[in-house]
Amino acid sequence: MHDDVAFETLAVRAGRGDLTALGVHAPPLDLSSTNPLPDIELGGASYESLATGHHPTEGGNVYARLWNPTVARFEEGLAQLEGAEEAVAFASGMAAFSAAVMAAAGRGRGRHVVAVRPLYGGTDHVLASGMLSVETTFTTADGIAAAVRPDTCLVVIETPANPTLELVDIAAAVEAAGDAPVLVDNTFATPVLQNPLALGAQLVMHSATKYLGGHGDVIGGVLAGSGEWATSIRPVRALTGGLLHPLAAYLLHRGLPTLALRVRAQQATARMLAERLAQHPAVTRAFYPGLGDSDPTGLVGRQMRGGGAMVSLELAGGLPAAEEMIRELQLFTHAVSLGGVDSLVQHPASLTHRPVAPEARPGAGILRLSIGLEHLEDLWADLERGLAATR
Ligand SMILES: Cc1ncc(COP(=O)(O)O)c(C=O)c1O
Repeated sequence: MHDDVAFETLAVRAGRGDLTALGVHAPPLDLSSTNPLPDIELGGASYESLATGHHPTEGGNVYARLWNPTVARFEEGLAQLEGAEEAVAFASGMAAFSAAVMAAAGRGRGRHVVAVRPLYGGTDHVLASGMLSVETTFTTADGIAAAVRPDTCLVVIETPANPTLELVDIAAAVEAAGDAPVLVDNTFATPVLQNPLALGAQLVMHSATKYLGGHGDVIGGVLAGSGEWATSIRPVRALTGGLLHPLAAYLLHRGLPTLALRVRAQQATARMLAERLAQHPAVTRAFYPGLGDSDPTGLVGRQMRGGGAMVSLELAGGLPAAEEMIRELQLFTHAVSLGGVDSLVQHPASLTHRPVAPEARPGAGILRLSIGLEHLEDLWADLERGLAATR
């Protein structure tokens, strides 16, 4: 596939280039856990290639923990959409993130990570726990240069960040990181709105569970970057076993052609809702990239093609108001996760960000909304009803 075609075209074609030659229209779904080997020598050579992070050779795919063709199709599709040489897919976003840290720590620079808060609660939690045997310095975007050390193996940023939708200037973060590699969690923006690799980041990560899947029926994660990074990441996946299941990969690959349509439609509704929420007397603050004074350096438009489809709001009535509102809402399902075709509401301080240190935890009056594909006016009527109940 040529990279001179538009995103929409790429999204429909990527990972499907061989289908006509195969005589099929939909990608085949390969559920084999193991693969017949041609002979010992060829099988062994392919095993060696796969175990060291490379692709299968003549000896075949050997074993599904090492390589699966359906997973590889999704990886190829996502890599093309992110402008990456390669992508490596995992059983969840957290498995992808953990593998990125393990691979980075294995590259010989050292075992120090710089993490820019706010981050998704799970990402914050796994780093703070020390479970990955790295030392983490938590900082803000302004503090990256001061936090980076000669033994820093990875700088982690998330933009827009979860749940207050703060933006981090990716190019500035890359500059501040010096020669330390930067990983950007691109889950909220998706490659439709933001391409961190083009701004100098080494790795881009997704919880594929969210917009990439888009229908609330898959858990998955993916990392994209250079072929060299992919080669260092694949052995971590092979040895720690976090491979994406092929059925999930099939669904994720099927979600890519509609990604741009979904994200842009959800974004248009989200922006309108954020503007209306900002005017509502029961709301002390609406959080949406580009709204009000949230983007002083103009990253929306320059770094991000729009503000995305997530909106957060702070209620004047604090936690009791948040409880009332969630009880009242009918079109917003009370559930964690995000990025699907249906709208969700959740209370980050009690749920997704519960494990985060108190000083970094979001306020008790904040609710996070994931805006789906329902009609704007239906969603607004639901929110107005919910807000009325808080007063
Ligand atoms: C921004 C972000 N990154 C990472 C994750 C973790 O992904 P997963 O739940 O697929 O492991 C999430 C999950 O909510 C997320 O929102």
